[in-house]
Amino acid sequence: MALNKHTFYVTTPIYYVNDIPHIGHSYTTIAADVLARYKKAKGLEVFFLTGTDEHGQKIQKAAQICNKTPIEFVNTVVDKFKALWNDLCISNDDFIRTTDERHCRRVKRIFQQIFENGDIYLGEYEGWYCVPCESFWIESQLEENKCPECKRVVEKVKEKNYFFRLSKYKNHLLEYYDKHPDFIQPESRRNELLQRIKSQVEDISVSRSAVEWGIQVPMDPTHTIYVWIDALLNYITALGYDDDMQKFQKYWPASVHIIGKEILWFHGVIWPAILMSLKIDLPHKIFAHGWWTVEGQKISKSLGNAINPIHIIQSYGTDAYRYFLLREVPFGLDGNFSYHALIHRINSDLGNDLGNLLQRTLTMIEKYFHGVIPEVIDENDELKRESQITCDKIDQEINQLQFSRALEVIWEFIRRSNKFIEDKKPWSLAKTDITGPQLALVISSLAMAIRNISVFIYPFMPTTTVEIQRQLGILHDTCYPSLEFQQKFKKGTIVRKGKPLFPKIELTELKIASL
Ligand code: MSP
Repeated sequence: MALNKHTFYVTTPIYYVNDIPHIGHSYTTIAADVLARYKKAKGLEVFFLTGTDEHGQKIQKAAQICNKTPIEFVNTVVDKFKALWNDLCISNDDFIRTTDERHCRRVKRIFQQIFENGDIYLGEYEGWYCVPCESFWIESQLEENKCPECKRVVEKVKEKNYFFRLSKYKNHLLEYYDKHPDFIQPESRRNELLQRIKSQVEDISVSRSAVEWGIQVPMDPTHTIYVWIDALLNYITALGYDDDMQKFQKYWPASVHIIGKEILWFHGVIWPAILMSLKIDLPHKIFAHGWWTVEGQKISKSLGNAINPIHIIQSYGTDAYRYFLLREVPFGLDGNFSYHALIHRINSDLGNDLGNLLQRTLTMIEKYFHGVIPEVIDENDELKRESQITCDKIDQEINQLQFSRALEVIWEFIRRSNKFIEDKKPWSLAKTDITGPQLALVISSLAMAIRNISVFIYPFMPTTTVEIQRQLGILHDTCYPSLEFQQKFKKGTIVRKGKPLFPKIELTELKIASL
């Protein structure tokens, strides 16, 4: 993301509220949160948007099943999403609901504009519709008469609909992908998309006459706007487009839309074509990550394996969960959630490596220096040099959304710091040289390394950062630039050793939350 701007705009998909959030939804939102926190820590003005997609047939049906009106139904589910984001320390700057008046009003105006541009026309649709995916399919796209995306049963649909001239934009889109090779990532997904767009692009239905629960088509109130058009527009309606343009002018184009791989067609083809029709710049990047399975199986309501993240964080903590999801699987690939893997990561990476480094260092500060961090500077401080290199590597990885690699880089530094203790043997220095400079240099260098680590991990594990800094006796600081300036601790900084950050979890006491 080589942007010259000082602003950064990151989004998640807006989630359907037909059911409560599961680990898959939390994954995308945590990834976007890490990016938002990182860019804020780097000094950029960040706008981080998430929200909920509340219209359409699927929600209408789910409400009916619960004997509720759609709005009563969505209100209860939206609260669950908001509560989860709060528990997961998600730092979004706005939360857009497609039922918000601001959104509905703007969607109508935008739809009208596209119509007036000549890109929407009335026609007749005959084909298939997948309600869970809210997607139209033509006969030849079906796989064994089922939805090619989710493999579920599709409905036959024949209705008068408004269409968007997607086919008109085919060549413009191909040209754009060509000129902007980083627009869609990862590369493998970009290639799949290119193949599909080259082989077939037809105009798409953008209204439903048979669905009531939606935003009315402005020039024809017997239709509602197709839920995907309604939803995609959230990325600009939340910025005020087009009746309150201040935020839009400041933050658009989006720096990155983070999405799951199954909705890349909507984001990589339909969304850019709509923006082209509106003559709005395209987002800088669309990143489609992989899918999680749970204990080897697709997450599904019918299989009953949709783990509620709240249960995991109640047992193991928010930061451990955030760490695990982003460390375990390279961003872009599919991954599998298992409690064994989670506990293994907590015990080894978090407990043994990070927790022990802090515990050992603070114990030595208490034992050899009465709890006060020695105030010396080593001009040749090797950990300081490596801190700077680590900082640069983290930047490269996070800019490519390679979160697991960024964490690997941080953990290399944590392990390096632990090895520094083994190599320098402060306990031997304490025997021979407790008042000499050597021991003080080793300990202050370690304390500074830990301070830097607390900043490195901040986007991933914000609560742990606070706790480490509290134990180190320093003020809360998440700011990357300060790494370059802060040379030493304030005179007389007193550490406050606390409980281990991540106590060991016995595999035998595996707390299976709610499988
Ligand atoms: N409402 C649409 C998105 C509109 S965006 C303009 C939608 N909603 S959804 O509730 O189905 O959420 C889909 C997104 O949730 C995926 O794209 C992904 O970000 C996340 N995930 C849902 N299940 C997932 C997994 N099993 N694994 C990883 N992420 C997944 O589609």
